[in-house]
Amino acid sequence: MSQDPLFAPLRLGQLTLKNRIVMPPMTRSRAAQPGDVATDLMATYYAQRASAGLIVSEGTQISPLGKGYAWTPGIYSAEQIAGWRKVTDAVHANGGAIVAQLWHVGRVTHPDNIGGAHPISASALRAEGVRVFVDSNGAPGFVETVTPRALSVDEIAAVVNEYRQAARNALEAGFDGIELHGANGYLINQFLDSESNARTDQYGGSLENRLRFLKEVVTAVGAEIGMDRVGVRLAPLTTLNGTVDANPEETYTAAAALLGQLGVVYVHIAEADWDDAPVMRREFKEALRAAYSGTLIYAGKYDAERARSALREGWADMIGFGRPFIANPDLPERIKLSLPWTAHDPATLFGGDAHGLTDYPKADGSAA
Ligand SMILES: Cc1cc2nc3c(=O)[nH]c(=O)nc-3n(C[C@H](O)[C@H](O)[C@H](O)COP(=O)(O)O)c2cc1C
Repeated sequence: MSQDPLFAPLRLGQLTLKNRIVMPPMTRSRAAQPGDVATDLMATYYAQRASAGLIVSEGTQISPLGKGYAWTPGIYSAEQIAGWRKVTDAVHANGGAIVAQLWHVGRVTHPDNIGGAHPISASALRAEGVRVFVDSNGAPGFVETVTPRALSVDEIAAVVNEYRQAARNALEAGFDGIELHGANGYLINQFLDSESNARTDQYGGSLENRLRFLKEVVTAVGAEIGMDRVGVRLAPLTTLNGTVDANPEETYTAAAALLGQLGVVYVHIAEADWDDAPVMRREFKEALRAAYSGTLIYAGKYDAERARSALREGWADMIGFGRPFIANPDLPERIKLSLPWTAHDPATLFGGDAHGLTDYPKADGSAA
């Protein structure tokens, strides 16, 4: 058991993590309304899962315009910072480590979620057929996204500054660091992928130009809070929310190399989102490892054995278990002792109350 690679400690920047098991970011849509504020209930939920080596918070919008779905939390107001402080205190009290996933959705939203404003993106290209959850006028439901407008160069600088401020706010809220959400079709991803970026200025066209927004955001947040507190999540192959790259292995290997040069503390690869789980070739994973020498996290449909193999093969340093953490608050203990995993209830993933959030028991049946 002492040989289990999932339980080897790991140094991550200034943190010493107790194991290689990550609770990856998962939106649960239970922020207090109005104001999109993290709650005591959320503090309990995250604290219950503090035996993970690292928790990444659910996606957390950096500005009102960065919000894609009703009931998700933000980190731009004083009230939101205070809400998150309760979460981070509770996680730390239980011996855990937690970083904030900083989220700007770009075009993956609807005017109803952003105070009637027009969604923004790299380019005026619509996320075709993508629907987002709104809760306007007391009638919650899904609506299709609209065609966004392209950011001007000055507006890009303003958004970069919002990321910088949100990183500062995250430290003020007690987080151990931040993860930039560069995955799953949201704003950073919209700049990265060739088919969602039709710009003809310095932010589009060549690979170097498509990487520029990511580079500027990373540089800004790193200067603000220290690069040893900055991780980045990327989703090279998934096409969630309509972002597609013509040559993902080239694009994302270059992104990993850039993040290595900038010195971010980890890169977090999302291999799957729900059922969209394209197979990532082993050669691609080896190329990412060669391009980036920091900590590499992978998530997407892992079980304990696949996770151990990934660590032993050397292309991953930590493994995220998303859906398993929802219904198994003591997941590391279950992995260590080879105990069975409980299946989650899909009906309580998004929205609602404590049911399906904090009432999943430990393996022995006791409260988490
Ligand atoms: C309910 C739910 C919400 C999610 N929300 C986010 C999110 O806010 N940010 C993100 O980067 N990924 C999000 N994901 C993706 C997960 O982080 C993870 O990559 C995915 O679930 C695949 O891992 P798994 O097969 O272990 O569940 C979400 C997944 C689920 C199930």
